[in-house]
Amino acid sequence: MKAVGYSIGFLIFRIMETKKIALVTGANRGIGFAVAKKLLKKDITVIVTSRSEKDGQQATEKLSQFGKAVYYQLDVTDEKSIAACYAFAKAEFGKLDILINNAGINYDTHQNIENADLDEVLTTFKTNTLAPLKIIQTFLPLLRNSDKARIVNVSSGSGALASQDGTTPGYSLSKLGLNGVTLAFSNQLKGEGILVNSVCPGWVRTDMGGSNADRSPEKGAETIVWTALLEDKSMTGKFFRDRKEIDW
Ligand SMILES: NC(=O)c1ccc[n+]([C@@H]2O[C@H](COP(=O)([O-])OP(=O)(O)OC[C@H]3O[C@@H](n4cnc5c(N)ncnc54)[C@H](OP(=O)(O)O)[C@@H]3O)[C@@H](O)[C@H]2O)c1
Repeated sequence: MKAVGYSIGFLIFRIMETKKIALVTGANRGIGFAVAKKLLKKDITVIVTSRSEKDGQQATEKLSQFGKAVYYQLDVTDEKSIAACYAFAKAEFGKLDILINNAGINYDTHQNIENADLDEVLTTFKTNTLAPLKIIQTFLPLLRNSDKARIVNVSSGSGALASQDGTTPGYSLSKLGLNGVTLAFSNQLKGEGILVNSVCPGWVRTDMGGSNADRSPEKGAETIVWTALLEDKSMTGKFFRDRKEIDW
């Protein structure tokens, strides 16, 4: 009995004492890579994830100069992959302080709401909306082991209600849905002090944003990281850009 008491006490001590642990999806390039770099520079341990193991390992090698970067393969649309990543994080760290749902696809400028291919819309929803939902569901037990758990869903101004003008229908509706996921979890988890917010990074020079975008990935990552480190417990269920609230 004493031994059990001791080991539970030790476990709690370990959870309280270890550094913050963050997980970033799609961290091999673009905004996700820049977010991982910023978190590492703040002495936060980062679980760098990507769907391609080769790309992710290469990114982790580069990121390792900034702090403790640990790689794990994660295809956000694959429930088995999500479960395996959860098992890894649980065994390795026993908690998760920061979850950044960054992976996203398909800024579908080639179609509009009148002619949108619904298979394509569905595929976009699976990555941009349902995957973050499943990842939050799965990682909740580890987030509950943190005393300051923060979930950041990387959304877009295209997901705002006022932006629903019929263009980029798969992308815009999927980010509108992602904002719904943010609101639903923020209300569900408010009593537990787990903050859940959406962030629009602005127009960023990545493969998705293109070379004409006005922001660097580092600039795009800024408010995502700021949101991941919010102290004020009332700051949940919000949509931020440039550290300011914007309309849903
Ligand atoms: N760039 C912008 O202007 C802008 C503006 C507003 C919002 N955003 C949002 O910011 C986030 C990051 O975008 P970005 O500009 O950095 O785009 P990006 O350069 O195209 O990178 C997208 C990332 O998502 C990953 N990804 C896609 N599907 C995945 C899957 N099934 N499993 C795991 N990872 C997956 C990609 O991995 P692979 O390398 O394997 O493809 C890549 O790492 C997205 O949610 C995007 O919607 C971007």
